[in-house]
Amino acid sequence: MAMLTNKVILVTGGSTGIGRATAKVLGTEGATVIIADVQDQEGATTVEMVNDSGGKAEYHHVDVSDYEQVRALVTHVAESHGSLDGAFNNAGIEGPTAKILDVPVEAWERVIRVNLTGVFICMKCEIEQMVKQDSGGSIVSTSSAAGLIGIPGAASYNASKHGVIGLTKTIALEYASKKVRANAVCPGFIETPMLDRVTDASVKIRDQLIGAVPMRRVAQPSEIGETAAWLLSDKSSYVTGVAMPVDGGWVAQ
Ligand SMILES: NC(=O)c1ccc[n+]([C@@H]2O[C@H](COP(=O)([O-])OP(=O)(O)OC[C@H]3O[C@@H](n4cnc5c(N)ncnc54)[C@H](O)[C@@H]3O)[C@@H](O)[C@H]2O)c1
Repeated sequence: MAMLTNKVILVTGGSTGIGRATAKVLGTEGATVIIADVQDQEGATTVEMVNDSGGKAEYHHVDVSDYEQVRALVTHVAESHGSLDGAFNNAGIEGPTAKILDVPVEAWERVIRVNLTGVFICMKCEIEQMVKQDSGGSIVSTSSAAGLIGIPGAASYNASKHGVIGLTKTIALEYASKKVRANAVCPGFIETPMLDRVTDASVKIRDQLIGAVPMRRVAQPSEIGETAAWLLSDKSSYVTGVAMPVDGGWVAQ
């Protein structure tokens, strides 16, 4: 049997990149996938892709940094599907590339709002439902290799991703006895629109990044999807509070 049969799983940031690829893996593994994002056309395309590969998906326009929108979505999912069994809190934005003296406070606040407060809001709404339904659930959030090490020029992004790991460990402890597991994935360099933006689609910058990775390649977003799917499934039933690098060995150096 597929790994996620009968599970209802929320994917934030599912319109593109890692979220889209993960939605496809989850659908193939039997889950009903609820996609939340702010890019509606791309979200509709993800739904088509999941459905075309034999899965089930639906799209909702939800800004993860808005508590009322996220709460309304989780309530809708519980009412229409009966439960929320898993969540992939993956929506995120890159920050400014600059040393701290050149980072405007507003730019810092925007990155923290989406990448950290957004994950906090999602966790809060998801846990409320998972505790209520008694069967618990599995929450996986997208941190980053930048959540594990310092990277000059990326203060707000790095702080947000370190924060996601702190949140993950804390809720893992707070709700372990309620059958809610919480883990984070820490991607390295992944072939997505974000990587194109961060590298200005420059082959030279890309080659420099690849040169720093022991496996000497970037990853396909489905490689994060496969890891997330395992963490969302009952196959990882004793795993909680973990921040798992999926980075070709980058942070092991
Ligand atoms: N690509 C990489 O190399 C890499 C590495 C480490 C971590 N990450 C993280 O992976 C996650 C996915 O990034 P990606 O590379 O797929 O980038 P992406 O830009 O392709 O996807 C991000 C998605 O999040 C959505 N989003 C942004 N703000 C949102 C909001 N307020 N509410 C709802 N949705 C919102 C976007 O519309 C987009 O669909 C992010 O959290 C990112 O920080 C990416």
